Amino acid sequence: MPEKKLSVNRASLGHRIGYALRHPDRVPRHLSRAARDLWLRRTSPDHVSYYRAVMRSDTRAGPDAAVGSGSRERWMALGALQFDYLVGHGLRPEHRMLDIGCGNLRGGWRFVRHLDPGHYYGIDISPDILFAAQETIVRMDLRDRLPVLTPVRDLTLRFLPDSHFDVVHAHSVFSHSPLPVVEECLANVGRVLAPGGWFDFTFDRTEGKEHQVLREDFYYRTETLLALAGRHGLRAGFMDDWERLPHGQSKIRVFRQP
Ligand SMILES: C[S@@+](CC[C@H](N)C(=O)[O-])C[C@H]1O[C@@H](n2cnc3c(N)ncnc32)[C@H](O)[C@@H]1O
Repeated sequence: MPEKKLSVNRASLGHRIGYALRHPDRVPRHLSRAARDLWLRRTSPDHVSYYRAVMRSDTRAGPDAAVGSGSRERWMALGALQFDYLVGHGLRPEHRMLDIGCGNLRGGWRFVRHLDPGHYYGIDISPDILFAAQETIVRMDLRDRLPVLTPVRDLTLRFLPDSHFDVVHAHSVFSHSPLPVVEECLANVGRVLAPGGWFDFTFDRTEGKEHQVLREDFYYRTETLLALAGRHGLRAGFMDDWERLPHGQSKIRVFRQP
């Protein structure tokens, strides 16, 4: 099971030196990623454009790795984990689902297969990963399920209808998002949630100082995210049962206040 190192500040010089000494083989890859990210940051006007460029570069190298899975086996297992959890919490075929940052449908293809045709709606800032998502639909023979896959520039969700989605889901998205992006989502998700619907998101949790690495990986304290959700009129709770699963991130669920 991936260990959650909750007090580590991965941005600190001490941690970085220690990590490099423990894993000298990973240093060249880290340096090339840092150089690429420096360049992409200079040429991107904002975080979303920057991260879209990161995804373009990563997807070219391989879509599964771009969403964080080093092998097809891991991709399948991570998708099953997301799917089994939500079905265990009551996701039914008649539900309408919005999958924010759906990637190449690692979890998504299972949701598409489970839900009634037309009930899966995936959005992502990266057109490149959405092309890969279309390939997943073909490979898994799910054309008849008619999923919607839409590129977005932001998380205002303003083109989506009120009170529509029973389940909104963002897996490994806020772990790559600065707080204003997380806040934009929390400020707007309540409007699209159906009565009784819920929004689950994962995040990289720290119990120390909040920090980020290379503007790609963001570490938040639980109370920061719970308070942010509360400020936008949402009722939020930490999902203890998710902690027992083999996944390095934590999960929060929010509901629209009645
Ligand atoms: C680590 S991948 C996870 C993909 C998918 N949720 C899964 O679990 O396989 C993160 C995805 O979120 C997308 N993403 C990152 N920031 C986003 C944002 N602000 N709005 C929408 N999508 C975003 C990325 O393009 C990428 O496809």
